[in-house]
Amino acid sequence: MSSIRRRDFLGATLALSQFGGASASQSLRELRLVAAPGQVALDAQARAVGVWSYGGSVPGPLIRATQGERLRVVAENRLPQETTVHWHGIRLSNAMDGVPHLTQPPIAPGASFTYEFELPDAGTFWYHSHLHSAEQLERGLYGALVVAERAPPAVDRDLVWVLDDWLLTREGQVQGGFNNPHDVAHAGRLGNVVTLNGAGEPPDLVLRPGERVRLRLVNAANARIFGLEFEGHAPTVIALDGQPVAPHAPARGRIVLGPGMRCDLILDGTADAAKRYAVRDTFYPRQTYELAHVAYAGEPLRTAPARVTPLPPNPLPEPDMANARSHEFVFEGGMMGTMHQALLDGRPVPMMALLRQGKAWAINGVAAAGHTMAPVLTLERGRSYILKLRNDTRWHHPMHLHGHSFRVLTRNGQPTAHREWVDTVLLDPMERAEVAFVADNPGDWMFHCHVLEHQEGGMMTTIRVG
Ligand code: C2O
Ligand code: CU
Repeated sequence: MSSIRRRDFLGATLALSQFGGASASQSLRELRLVAAPGQVALDAQARAVGVWSYGGSVPGPLIRATQGERLRVVAENRLPQETTVHWHGIRLSNAMDGVPHLTQPPIAPGASFTYEFELPDAGTFWYHSHLHSAEQLERGLYGALVVAERAPPAVDRDLVWVLDDWLLTREGQVQGGFNNPHDVAHAGRLGNVVTLNGAGEPPDLVLRPGERVRLRLVNAANARIFGLEFEGHAPTVIALDGQPVAPHAPARGRIVLGPGMRCDLILDGTADAAKRYAVRDTFYPRQTYELAHVAYAGEPLRTAPARVTPLPPNPLPEPDMANARSHEFVFEGGMMGTMHQALLDGRPVPMMALLRQGKAWAINGVAAAGHTMAPVLTLERGRSYILKLRNDTRWHHPMHLHGHSFRVLTRNGQPTAHREWVDTVLLDPMERAEVAFVADNPGDWMFHCHVLEHQEGGMMTTIRVG
C-alpha cells in the first residue's frame, strides 16, 4: 500500500447544484491527474527506474469514491507524446470513455482534458492510458479506482493490490521495442519483474488472527495472466470486474486474472499465526514464484470468521434472454494458427504481409488498423444481445467491452456456475463462450483484447449502440 500515494487527490466533495442533470444530493469528487515522466524505485535497494506515471507514483493515486457520486478529473499531459485516460469498467457516457479519435481527440503534450461522469456501480475499477497502450501502460500509466458501496460490508481492512510486470534491461530500465513482432504474434509482452503496488519485493501482508480483509486485485500488466494461490488460507470471491458475484471459493483454489481483470476477495486470518504463508502465482507452470506473503501479528480479533454475505447488487439491466438477438465473434490469428489472411484497411492481406505491418490478429476477418473503424455491429438501444465468442487461436485473450458489463452464460457449451457479470472475459485457447447484456449505453464502444500487443496487432473492433 505504501506506494499508493494520495497527494494529488484533492478529494473535495461539493454539493452539486451548478451542474445540469445532476441531482442536488449528488456529490462531486474532483482531482487532478498529471501524467508525466518520473523516476520510481521498484525495490528498496534498486536504482530508480524511469517511468511515465500519474501523480508521480506507480500505480497512480488510488481514487476512492462512493457509488452515485460524480467524478471530475482534470487530466494534464506532461508526457512527450499524446495520451488519453480510459476508466476501465465504468458504465459512463461515451464522450468520457477516453478512446482517442473515437470518443475524444488525443490530449496533446502540454494540454489537458476534463473527464466528468457518474459512478453508477460500486466495485473495483481502474484507469489507464488508451493511446499507445502497449508503451504507456508498460511505462506505468495506470491506477486503481475503488467505488465504495453506500453501505459497505463489514471488514477490518479494505486493501488494493495492483499487479503488474515489467520488462527491464540489465541496467534496470524499461526495455524498448514495444509491439515487436514476436510479442504481437505470441502471448504479448511478458516482463521479468513482477510488482505489487509498484513494489518488486512487497512487504508481508500482516494480519491479526481472525482479521477479515477485503482484498481488491487489479491486473494492470500488458500481457501477464496471474493465477494466485493463497497458501494456508481459503479466500472467498465476492466480486469480479467490480460486479458482485455469489460468494464462492475460486475454482481449483486459484484466482485467475487476465490483463484488465479485477477480483474482490474476502480473506480471513484463520491460519496458524506462528507461520508465514506464500501467495504463489502458478499460472505459467514452469515459472511459478512467490508474489507476496501473509504473516500474523497482534492480538486476535475474533476466533471464528462470520459468514461471507453477498455484496448488494449494482443497478445492471437484466438481459431478456427470450428476446435476445445473437451475434458471433470469431477471433483468429497468432502463431500456430490457421489464419491465412485478414482485411486491413478494407483490403485482403496475407498473413506474412500482415506480420510485416505489425498485425497478427483479426476479429470476424478484420485486422484493426487503429482506434477508428466503422462499427462492425450496430445494436438497438435497450435490446438484449448474446455475443457468441469463438477463440480460434492457440492463445489466451481477455476480451474487454467498453461501456457495459455482460453476463458470462456458457463456456464451451456448459453453463457457468455463477453467470458472472464482468467487463472482460478471459478466453482460453480455442475456447468458446456466450455472454449476454442489454445494449443500454449509446455510443461507439471498443471491444478488444486486453493483451495490449494483441490489441495493437489488430484484435480490436467497435460496436455501436444506436
Ligand atoms: Cu482497459 Cu479498452 O481498456
Ligand atoms: Cu489477445
